[in-house]
Amino acid sequence: MISEFPHLIDLADHPVSWWNGLLELGQEILKNPALYANSCRGKIMGTLFYEPSTRTQMSFQTAMLRLGGTIIGFDNPQTSSVAKGENLKDTTKIVSGYSDVLVIRHPIAGAAKAAALTADCPVINAGDGGHLHPTQTLTDLLTLKCEKGRLTGLTIGLCGDLLNGRTVHSLCKAMACYPDNHFIMISTKELAMPSYIKDYIRAHGGTFEETFSLEEAIPKLDMLYMTRIQRERFASVEEYEAQKDTYILTPKKMKLAKPDMIVLHPLPRVDEIEVAVDDDPRALYFKQAKYGMYIRMALILTMLQSAKKTELLVGQTHPGIACQNEKCITCREPYLPKSFIGSGTTLTCEYCDERLLLRH
Ligand code: NCD
Repeated sequence: MISEFPHLIDLADHPVSWWNGLLELGQEILKNPALYANSCRGKIMGTLFYEPSTRTQMSFQTAMLRLGGTIIGFDNPQTSSVAKGENLKDTTKIVSGYSDVLVIRHPIAGAAKAAALTADCPVINAGDGGHLHPTQTLTDLLTLKCEKGRLTGLTIGLCGDLLNGRTVHSLCKAMACYPDNHFIMISTKELAMPSYIKDYIRAHGGTFEETFSLEEAIPKLDMLYMTRIQRERFASVEEYEAQKDTYILTPKKMKLAKPDMIVLHPLPRVDEIEVAVDDDPRALYFKQAKYGMYIRMALILTMLQSAKKTELLVGQTHPGIACQNEKCITCREPYLPKSFIGSGTTLTCEYCDERLLLRH
Protein backbone atom coordinates (compact mmCIF):
# COMPACT_ATOMS: atom_id res chain seq x y z
CA MET A 1 0.00 0.00 0.00
CA ILE A 2 1.37 3.39 -1.03
CA SER A 3 0.69 6.46 1.10
CA GLU A 4 0.95 9.84 -0.60
CA PHE A 5 2.84 11.29 2.38
CA PRO A 6 6.39 10.88 3.70
CA HIS A 7 6.30 9.05 7.04
CA LEU A 8 8.93 8.08 9.59
CA ILE A 9 7.81 4.79 11.06
CA ASP A 10 11.16 2.98 11.03
CA LEU A 11 14.47 4.52 9.96
CA ALA A 12 15.01 1.42 7.82
CA ASP A 13 12.24 2.70 5.51
CA HIS A 14 14.63 5.45 4.39
CA PRO A 15 18.15 5.21 2.94
CA VAL A 16 21.18 5.98 5.10
CA SER A 17 21.82 9.04 2.91
CA TRP A 18 18.48 10.46 4.16
CA TRP A 19 19.52 9.97 7.80
CA ASN A 20 22.87 11.61 7.04
CA GLY A 21 21.05 14.56 5.46
CA LEU A 22 19.01 14.98 8.66
CA LEU A 23 22.18 14.84 10.77
CA GLU A 24 23.80 17.53 8.63
CA LEU A 25 20.73 19.73 8.86
CA GLY A 26 20.57 19.10 12.63
CA GLN A 27 24.17 20.29 12.97
CA GLU A 28 23.41 23.36 10.84
CA ILE A 29 20.41 24.27 12.99
CA LEU A 30 22.44 23.72 16.17
CA LYS A 31 25.07 26.18 14.91
CA ASN A 32 22.57 28.81 13.86
CA PRO A 33 19.03 28.24 15.20
CA ALA A 34 17.95 31.83 14.51
CA LEU A 35 18.20 31.17 10.77
CA TYR A 36 15.36 28.66 11.07
CA ALA A 37 13.08 30.62 13.42
CA ASN A 38 10.40 31.14 10.77
CA SER A 39 10.85 28.02 8.65
CA CYS A 40 7.53 26.49 9.73
CA ARG A 41 5.47 29.63 10.20
CA GLY A 42 1.79 28.82 9.65
CA LYS A 43 2.31 25.06 10.05
CA ILE A 44 0.65 22.93 12.73
CA MET A 45 2.05 19.81 14.37
CA GLY A 46 -0.41 17.39 16.01
CA THR A 47 0.88 15.24 18.88
CA LEU A 48 -0.98 12.11 19.96
CA PHE A 49 0.72 10.79 23.08
CA TYR A 50 -1.09 7.66 24.27
CA GLU A 51 1.85 6.97 26.65
CA PRO A 52 3.75 9.15 29.17
CA SER A 53 6.64 11.21 27.85
CA THR A 54 8.74 14.16 28.93
CA ARG A 55 11.68 14.52 26.53
CA THR A 56 10.17 13.20 23.32
CA GLN A 57 6.98 15.18 23.64
CA MET A 58 8.52 18.43 24.83
CA SER A 59 11.45 18.30 22.44
CA PHE A 60 9.02 17.80 19.55
CA GLN A 61 6.89 20.68 20.82
CA THR A 62 9.80 23.06 21.36
CA ALA A 63 11.28 21.99 18.02
CA MET A 64 8.09 23.07 16.23
CA LEU A 65 7.78 26.28 18.27
CA ARG A 66 11.43 27.17 17.54
CA LEU A 67 10.69 26.70 13.83
CA GLY A 68 7.85 29.22 14.11
CA GLY A 69 5.03 26.67 13.92
CA THR A 70 2.29 25.81 16.41
CA ILE A 71 1.09 22.63 18.13
CA ILE A 72 -2.12 20.83 19.03
CA GLY A 73 -2.74 17.42 20.57
CA PHE A 74 -3.11 15.40 23.76
CA ASP A 75 -0.67 13.92 26.23
CA ASN A 76 -3.30 11.90 28.03
CA PRO A 77 -5.73 9.96 25.83
CA GLN A 78 -8.20 9.88 28.75
CA THR A 79 -8.91 13.57 28.17
CA SER A 80 -9.75 12.89 24.50
CA SER A 81 -12.45 10.84 22.78
CA VAL A 82 -10.19 7.79 23.15
CA ALA A 83 -11.79 7.60 26.64
CA LYS A 84 -15.17 7.18 24.90
CA GLY A 85 -13.87 4.24 22.89
CA GLU A 86 -12.69 5.94 19.69
CA ASN A 87 -10.34 3.73 17.71
CA LEU A 88 -6.88 4.70 16.47
CA LYS A 89 -8.07 4.99 12.88
CA ASP A 90 -10.71 7.61 13.62
CA THR A 91 -8.56 9.69 15.99
CA THR A 92 -5.74 9.70 13.45
CA LYS A 93 -8.04 10.57 10.57
CA ILE A 94 -9.47 13.55 12.42
CA VAL A 95 -6.31 15.01 13.97
CA SER A 96 -4.22 14.49 10.82
CA GLY A 97 -6.91 16.49 9.01
CA TYR A 98 -6.21 19.41 11.35
CA SER A 99 -2.40 19.12 11.17
CA ASP A 100 0.50 19.37 8.73
CA VAL A 101 2.50 16.67 10.52
CA LEU A 102 1.43 14.18 13.18
CA VAL A 103 3.63 12.76 15.95
CA ILE A 104 2.36 9.63 17.67
CA ARG A 105 3.46 7.66 20.71
CA HIS A 106 1.52 4.53 21.60
CA PRO A 107 1.96 1.60 23.99
CA ILE A 108 1.32 -1.02 21.29
CA ALA A 109 3.83 -2.19 18.65
CA GLY A 110 2.94 -1.23 15.09
CA ALA A 111 0.57 1.60 16.12
CA ALA A 112 2.47 4.30 14.20
CA LYS A 113 2.34 2.25 11.01
CA ALA A 114 -1.36 1.62 11.57
CA ALA A 115 -1.92 5.36 12.05
CA ALA A 116 -0.01 6.19 8.86
CA LEU A 117 -2.38 3.94 6.88
CA THR A 118 -5.23 6.41 7.40
CA ALA A 119 -3.47 9.71 8.11
CA ASP A 120 -3.98 12.75 5.90
CA CYS A 121 -0.50 14.13 6.66
CA PRO A 122 3.00 12.75 7.40
CA VAL A 123 3.24 10.59 10.55
CA ILE A 124 6.28 10.38 12.82
CA ASN A 125 6.68 7.41 15.15
CA ALA A 126 7.61 8.72 18.60
CA GLY A 127 7.73 5.20 20.07
CA ASP A 128 5.41 2.22 19.49
CA GLY A 129 5.33 -0.07 22.51
CA GLY A 130 8.52 -2.08 22.96
CA HIS A 131 9.12 -2.04 19.22
CA LEU A 132 10.88 1.03 17.75
CA HIS A 133 11.78 4.63 18.56
CA PRO A 134 13.38 6.13 15.44
CA THR A 135 13.55 9.75 16.62
CA GLN A 136 15.42 8.72 19.77
CA THR A 137 17.89 7.01 17.46
CA LEU A 138 18.28 10.17 15.38
CA THR A 139 19.02 11.91 18.70
CA ASP A 140 21.62 9.25 19.52
CA LEU A 141 23.22 9.50 16.07
CA LEU A 142 23.52 13.28 16.32
CA THR A 143 25.06 12.91 19.79
CA LEU A 144 27.58 10.36 18.51
CA LYS A 145 28.41 12.47 15.47
CA CYS A 146 28.99 15.61 17.53
CA GLU A 147 30.68 13.97 20.50
CA LYS A 148 32.66 11.08 18.97
CA GLY A 149 33.00 12.59 15.50
CA ARG A 150 32.00 9.38 13.73
CA LEU A 151 29.33 6.71 13.33
CA THR A 152 31.67 3.93 12.22
CA GLY A 153 34.18 1.60 13.85
CA LEU A 154 32.57 1.87 17.27
CA THR A 155 32.19 -0.73 20.01
CA ILE A 156 28.76 -0.07 21.41
CA GLY A 157 27.58 -1.49 24.73
CA LEU A 158 23.83 -1.74 25.30
CA CYS A 159 22.83 -2.49 28.87
CA GLY A 160 19.56 -3.22 30.66
CA ASP A 161 16.18 -4.09 29.21
CA LEU A 162 17.14 -5.08 25.69
CA LEU A 163 13.93 -7.07 25.23
CA ASN A 164 11.43 -4.27 25.84
CA GLY A 165 13.59 -1.21 25.19
CA ARG A 166 12.50 0.23 21.86
CA THR A 167 15.39 2.72 21.87
CA VAL A 168 18.02 -0.01 21.66
CA HIS A 169 16.12 -1.82 18.91
CA SER A 170 16.11 1.23 16.66
CA LEU A 171 19.69 2.11 17.61
CA CYS A 172 21.04 -1.34 16.70
CA LYS A 173 19.19 -1.36 13.39
CA ALA A 174 20.63 2.03 12.49
CA MET A 175 24.21 1.54 13.68
CA ALA A 176 24.38 -1.83 11.90
CA CYS A 177 24.05 0.12 8.64
CA TYR A 178 27.30 2.02 9.25
CA PRO A 179 30.51 0.04 8.70
CA ASP A 180 32.58 -1.74 11.35
CA ASN A 181 30.36 -1.29 14.37
CA HIS A 182 30.40 -4.00 17.01
CA PHE A 183 27.66 -4.44 19.62
CA ILE A 184 28.07 -5.84 23.11
CA MET A 185 24.61 -6.65 24.47
CA ILE A 186 24.65 -6.69 28.26
CA SER A 187 21.52 -8.14 29.84
CA THR A 188 19.99 -10.99 31.77
CA LYS A 189 18.81 -13.98 29.73
CA GLU A 190 15.19 -12.95 30.31
CA LEU A 191 15.72 -9.45 28.89
CA ALA A 192 17.97 -10.36 25.94
CA MET A 193 17.75 -8.62 22.56
CA PRO A 194 14.92 -10.00 20.35
CA SER A 195 16.08 -12.31 17.59
CA TYR A 196 14.68 -10.13 14.80
CA ILE A 197 17.14 -7.38 15.80
CA LYS A 198 20.06 -9.82 15.95
CA ASP A 199 19.08 -11.17 12.53
CA TYR A 200 19.00 -7.62 11.21
CA ILE A 201 22.50 -6.86 12.53
CA ARG A 202 23.87 -10.07 10.96
CA ALA A 203 22.16 -9.37 7.65
CA HIS A 204 23.79 -5.92 7.53
CA GLY A 205 27.29 -7.19 8.29
CA GLY A 206 27.41 -5.96 11.90
CA THR A 207 28.85 -8.15 14.66
CA PHE A 208 27.67 -8.65 18.21
CA GLU A 209 28.27 -10.59 21.39
CA GLU A 210 26.01 -11.13 24.40
CA THR A 211 27.12 -11.06 28.02
CA PHE A 212 25.70 -10.77 31.52
CA SER A 213 28.63 -8.81 32.92
CA LEU A 214 28.79 -5.02 32.68
CA GLU A 215 32.17 -5.04 34.45
CA GLU A 216 33.68 -7.34 31.82
CA ALA A 217 32.26 -5.41 28.88
CA ILE A 218 32.87 -1.82 29.98
CA PRO A 219 36.66 -1.61 29.29
CA LYS A 220 36.07 -2.48 25.62
CA LEU A 221 33.45 0.18 24.90
CA ASP A 222 33.49 3.46 22.97
CA MET A 223 29.92 4.12 24.02
CA LEU A 224 27.78 2.67 26.79
CA TYR A 225 24.02 2.97 26.26
CA MET A 226 22.22 2.40 29.56
CA THR A 227 18.48 1.70 29.64
CA ARG A 228 15.75 1.51 32.22
CA ILE A 229 14.02 -1.80 32.99
CA GLN A 230 10.64 -1.14 31.32
CA ARG A 231 8.33 -1.83 34.25
CA GLU A 232 5.16 -1.09 32.27
CA ARG A 233 5.88 -3.81 29.70
CA PHE A 234 6.12 -6.69 32.21
CA ALA A 235 3.25 -9.15 32.64
CA SER A 236 3.55 -9.08 36.45
CA VAL A 237 5.12 -7.04 39.25
CA GLU A 238 7.02 -10.18 40.37
CA GLU A 239 8.73 -10.51 36.97
CA TYR A 240 9.75 -6.86 37.09
CA GLU A 241 11.01 -7.12 40.68
CA ALA A 242 13.19 -10.08 39.68
CA GLN A 243 14.93 -7.97 37.02
CA LYS A 244 15.21 -4.50 38.50
CA ASP A 245 18.52 -3.36 40.01
CA THR A 246 20.57 -5.96 38.08
CA TYR A 247 22.63 -3.22 36.44
CA ILE A 248 23.65 -0.06 38.21
CA LEU A 249 26.36 2.14 36.73
CA THR A 250 28.54 3.55 39.52
CA PRO A 251 31.65 5.77 39.65
CA LYS A 252 33.60 2.60 40.53
CA LYS A 253 32.50 0.86 37.31
CA MET A 254 33.27 4.05 35.34
CA LYS A 255 36.90 3.65 36.49
CA LEU A 256 37.10 0.48 34.37
CA ALA A 257 36.07 2.37 31.20
CA LYS A 258 38.25 4.07 28.59
CA PRO A 259 38.93 7.78 29.23
CA ASP A 260 36.98 8.66 26.07
CA MET A 261 34.06 6.25 26.47
CA ILE A 262 30.77 8.15 26.51
CA VAL A 263 27.66 7.19 28.47
CA LEU A 264 24.27 7.75 26.85
CA HIS A 265 20.78 7.00 28.18
CA PRO A 266 17.49 7.89 26.47
CA LEU A 267 16.12 8.79 29.95
CA PRO A 268 14.12 8.66 32.17
CA ARG A 269 16.64 7.17 34.58
CA VAL A 270 15.26 5.19 37.47
CA ASP A 271 18.26 3.88 39.40
CA GLU A 272 20.41 2.24 36.72
CA ILE A 273 22.89 5.14 36.78
CA GLU A 274 23.96 6.44 40.19
CA VAL A 275 23.51 10.21 40.45
CA ALA A 276 27.22 10.48 41.33
CA VAL A 277 28.05 9.44 37.74
CA ASP A 278 26.43 12.66 36.43
CA ASP A 279 29.56 14.64 37.35
CA ASP A 280 31.79 12.43 35.19
CA PRO A 281 32.57 14.35 31.97
CA ARG A 282 31.86 11.15 30.02
CA ALA A 283 28.21 11.16 31.18
CA LEU A 284 26.45 12.83 28.26
CA TYR A 285 22.81 11.88 28.75
CA PHE A 286 21.58 15.37 29.58
CA LYS A 287 23.42 16.85 26.61
CA GLN A 288 21.97 14.02 24.48
CA ALA A 289 18.43 15.11 25.37
CA LYS A 290 19.22 18.60 24.06
CA TYR A 291 20.56 17.23 20.78
CA GLY A 292 17.11 15.60 20.48
CA MET A 293 15.47 18.98 20.04
CA TYR A 294 17.78 20.00 17.18
CA ILE A 295 17.42 16.73 15.29
CA ARG A 296 13.63 16.93 15.67
CA MET A 297 13.74 20.45 14.20
CA ALA A 298 15.63 18.98 11.24
CA LEU A 299 13.12 16.15 10.96
CA ILE A 300 9.98 18.31 11.09
CA LEU A 301 11.44 20.65 8.49
CA THR A 302 12.39 17.77 6.21
CA MET A 303 9.03 16.05 6.52
CA LEU A 304 7.15 19.26 5.74
CA GLN A 305 9.29 19.97 2.69
CA SER A 306 9.23 16.47 1.26
CA ALA A 307 6.79 15.24 -1.37
CA LYS A 308 8.00 11.66 -1.00
CA LYS A 309 5.39 8.89 -1.04
CA THR A 310 5.83 5.98 1.39
CA GLU A 311 5.26 2.28 0.78
CA LEU A 312 3.57 1.20 4.00
CA LEU A 313 2.54 -2.41 3.56
CA VAL A 314 4.58 -4.44 1.11
CA GLY A 315 3.71 -7.93 2.39
CA GLN A 316 0.70 -10.16 1.82
CA THR A 317 -2.41 -11.20 3.67
CA HIS A 318 -2.88 -14.92 4.27
CA PRO A 319 -6.47 -16.06 4.77
CA GLY A 320 -7.12 -17.14 8.35
CA ILE A 321 -3.68 -16.04 9.59
CA ALA A 322 -3.29 -13.33 12.23
CA CYS A 323 -0.31 -12.06 14.23
CA GLN A 324 0.15 -14.04 17.47
CA ASN A 325 1.86 -11.21 19.35
CA GLU A 326 -0.74 -9.92 21.79
CA LYS A 327 1.24 -6.67 22.01
CA CYS A 328 0.73 -6.06 18.25
CA ILE A 329 -1.68 -3.37 17.09
CA THR A 330 -3.40 -5.81 14.69
CA CYS A 331 -4.61 -7.75 17.75
CA ARG A 332 -6.06 -4.57 19.32
CA GLU A 333 -7.58 -2.89 16.27
CA PRO A 334 -9.27 -5.70 14.34
CA TYR A 335 -10.19 -3.65 11.23
CA LEU A 336 -6.50 -3.36 10.25
CA PRO A 337 -5.43 -5.29 7.17
CA LYS A 338 -3.06 -8.07 8.29
CA SER A 339 0.18 -8.15 6.35
CA PHE A 340 3.12 -10.53 6.48
CA ILE A 341 6.54 -10.64 4.88
CA GLY A 342 8.01 -13.98 3.84
CA SER A 343 6.41 -17.23 2.81
CA GLY A 344 5.65 -20.77 3.95
CA THR A 345 6.36 -21.27 7.64
CA THR A 346 8.45 -18.12 8.04
CA LEU A 347 6.03 -15.23 8.12
CA THR A 348 6.85 -11.96 9.87
CA CYS A 349 4.16 -9.48 10.89
CA GLU A 350 4.74 -6.21 9.07
CA TYR A 351 3.48 -4.12 11.97
CA CYS A 352 5.42 -5.52 14.95
CA ASP A 353 8.20 -7.53 13.20
CA GLU A 354 7.47 -10.64 15.27
CA ARG A 355 7.83 -13.97 13.54
CA LEU A 356 4.76 -16.23 13.45
CA LEU A 357 5.04 -19.78 14.72
CA LEU A 358 3.26 -21.84 12.10
CA ARG A 359 2.92 -25.59 12.09
CA HIS A 360 2.19 -27.35 8.79
C1 NCD B 1 12.51 6.18 26.16
C2 NCD B 1 11.19 5.66 25.60
O1 NCD B 1 10.16 6.27 25.79
O2 NCD B 1 11.26 4.61 24.99
N1 NCD B 1 12.47 7.51 26.54
C3 NCD B 1 12.56 8.51 25.62
O3 NCD B 1 11.84 8.54 24.65
N2 NCD B 1 13.53 9.41 25.78
C4 NCD B 1 13.13 5.28 27.13
C5 NCD B 1 12.35 4.80 28.31
O4 NCD B 1 11.18 5.11 28.52
O5 NCD B 1 12.95 4.06 29.10
